[in-house]
Amino acid sequence: MNEITIFAPATIANISCGFDVLGCCLDTVGDEMVVRKVPEKGVKISKIEGVDLPFESDKNVAGVAALALLNEFKKKLDFGFEIDIYKNIKPGSGIGSSAASAAGAVFAINELLNKPFSKLQLVEFARKGEELACGSPIADNVAPAIFGGFTLVKSTNPLNIIELPSLEGLYTTILHPQIEIKTEDSRTILPKKVALTDAVKQWANVGALVHALHTNDYNLFSESLTDFIVEPHRSKLIYGFDKVKESALKAGALGCGISGSGPSIFTFSKNHQIAENVANSLNSIYLKNNIPFKIYISKISTQGIKIINTK
Ligand code: HSE
Repeated sequence: MNEITIFAPATIANISCGFDVLGCCLDTVGDEMVVRKVPEKGVKISKIEGVDLPFESDKNVAGVAALALLNEFKKKLDFGFEIDIYKNIKPGSGIGSSAASAAGAVFAINELLNKPFSKLQLVEFARKGEELACGSPIADNVAPAIFGGFTLVKSTNPLNIIELPSLEGLYTTILHPQIEIKTEDSRTILPKKVALTDAVKQWANVGALVHALHTNDYNLFSESLTDFIVEPHRSKLIYGFDKVKESALKAGALGCGISGSGPSIFTFSKNHQIAENVANSLNSIYLKNNIPFKIYISKISTQGIKIINTK
């Protein structure tokens, strides 16, 4: 195989109660990337469409993640890799833009090298890209992009990712206000210490959410989607957050929260029809503002990154 085209999915990190540990993967929202072997050694970013991002490999999240992988590849290579990135996910959207690029690059190169690395190792490489993007080697977006479905980052040192089951037929509706919130900024505003009473409620929800996924319990899943710690601070950065949440829940959503570090707002629904109803309610709320926005509806993908084509 000399060339691979992949779909690099958007992801929802945190999922309300699981700051920096929970995440899930979208099925139809994401970027495309083409990675090919070329005679020149190393990694070259040859094309970026859709957004303005650095082409230098050591300044681009895809490049940094790819270089981290190649550093660990022990055999000598007499070729290098060229990466074309077609971005649909804007940076600073909260749906894992940098994670899609970083995870996509390492997944594709691993395929072109005949899969020498495990998924866990790919997450390890990809989170080097996250470190470049936001200053922290977070794994809660790259893990679901690579593993698919829902994931839990059990620990970061050593890295341990737990794959969780998904609920049957689960859909997400995402409202993406077209403003950029940098993850680094959105992390800086968070308190360094939290009240024990809030922590107790929060970890009870994480445990309950994991149980709900294992038992396909929609009610428990819905009841667990509350964030006592992060959302109260970050929601202030997102215009109309409370109204959006109220209207999504009224339209039948199982829950609603900030996707990753925002500004995107995610909701979950039991089926496509409810996800559409939620989309309509979010649309009518946000049309009243002067902020441009996009709405996405997607199934939760249990697959993660998808191979579109190989040559
Ligand atoms: N867990 C990270 C945060 C995800 O919320 O800052 C960033 O997308």
